[in-house]
Amino acid sequence: MHEHISRLHALAGKAERLILGLMSGTSLDGLDVALCRIKNHGTATTAEVLKFETVNYDDTFRERVNAVFSRRDVDLQHLCLLNPWVALQHAKIILACLKKWGYMAEQIDLIASHGQTIYHSPKSFHQQADYSNATLQIGDGDHLACATGIITISDFRQKHIASGGEGAPLAMYGDHLIFGSATENRILLNIGGIANLSWLPSSQLPEEVLSSDIGPGNTLMDALIRQQDGKQQFDADARLARTGSVSQTLLGALKDHPFFKLPLPKTIGPELFNLDYVDGAISRSACHGLSLADQLATLNRFSADCIVEIIEEVTTNVDAYTVYTSGGGIHNSLLMENIAKKLPEIEIQSSQKLGIDPDAKEALLFALLANECVAGQSIKLGSAIPPIRPLTMGKVSFPD
Ligand SMILES: Nc1ncnc2c1ncn2[C@@H]1O[C@H](COP(=O)(O)OP(=O)(O)O)[C@@H](O)[C@H]1O
Ligand SMILES: [Mg+2]
Repeated sequence: MHEHISRLHALAGKAERLILGLMSGTSLDGLDVALCRIKNHGTATTAEVLKFETVNYDDTFRERVNAVFSRRDVDLQHLCLLNPWVALQHAKIILACLKKWGYMAEQIDLIASHGQTIYHSPKSFHQQADYSNATLQIGDGDHLACATGIITISDFRQKHIASGGEGAPLAMYGDHLIFGSATENRILLNIGGIANLSWLPSSQLPEEVLSSDIGPGNTLMDALIRQQDGKQQFDADARLARTGSVSQTLLGALKDHPFFKLPLPKTIGPELFNLDYVDGAISRSACHGLSLADQLATLNRFSADCIVEIIEEVTTNVDAYTVYTSGGGIHNSLLMENIAKKLPEIEIQSSQKLGIDPDAKEALLFALLANECVAGQSIKLGSAIPPIRPLTMGKVSFPD
């Protein structure tokens, strides 16, 4: 037997594993690094985030990735060079975090790397009959493993597509494993660049669990402010949006898109929800000349309304449920107020209430997927049509 396989075998038999979860979403804000202690597997899994940090990307990183990010026309050489380069930047960040936290690479059992999404294109978006759902994350796992000396599990989304899914959202797998409850219907709402949710009914029946993208979380607000003011990456605490007024006419035009009529589950990215989308809605509604503050106020309400509409769709005929939130959008207080106003009867809590830092949750979810890849079993969740086959996600890279 190859010594790599015996190492994996030994890892799978350990009572607990230290897994470093890495997440970098569509916001291109930074790399979320979560050192997680994970015990058991499947629904017996318990997880604890021991250390967490979001390491902000610098201008060079953002500029280089933005040159290909969600673009139809790219310099192929640049994309090819970025694949290992992104991995090496992530490796540097990992090694710096471990040093800061007082851990040696040898103490870490696995890296779970999401990679940097470059393009996401489900069939509903590309509409080309000859092609399947597709998504592309870069930051190669072999480079991460070699540069850190840690076995790396990466590229989780391809198996989901190969098994009949759209490659996203994968949140429901980890959410089901650690947040499922027999006494409470739960919605786990993550507001990143794109917002998504997992529906975890108290029946805990795998076929009733559902996960879907919602539409824009922060992505349109971020894009607008980044275009107008190169120094600001987001509307911190919605300070500018609070000074504006919602344009109902523009809001109506923003909501008028076939994506919102697609059945659940569905996925989408900034390939659709970008500044061209906003410009199109402004033209159709003849809302030219709105101030930046008014546009931000309207986009903020748009995101909130999209989130509430899907929550209501998922919970039709459900008596009671609690929403647990995570992702950078929860720091946008106006967004959270706009959501809460439309769901006055519903308890909305941070995922902290369930013991998990809301900024670390997504990185933890990938650590959970890596744990399942090594020590778990194939999982079947949801009732998508056509169904998604039982699956194990992630590709294994050894350091040598
Ligand atoms: N203090 C804040 N005020 C408003 N928005 C914030 C704040 N902190 C973070 N955000 C938003 O959260 C985004 C990052 O969220 P994140 O969950 O990391 O998304 P992603 O998974 O797409 O990277 C930022 O781009 C910004 O829009
Ligand atoms: Mg982020």
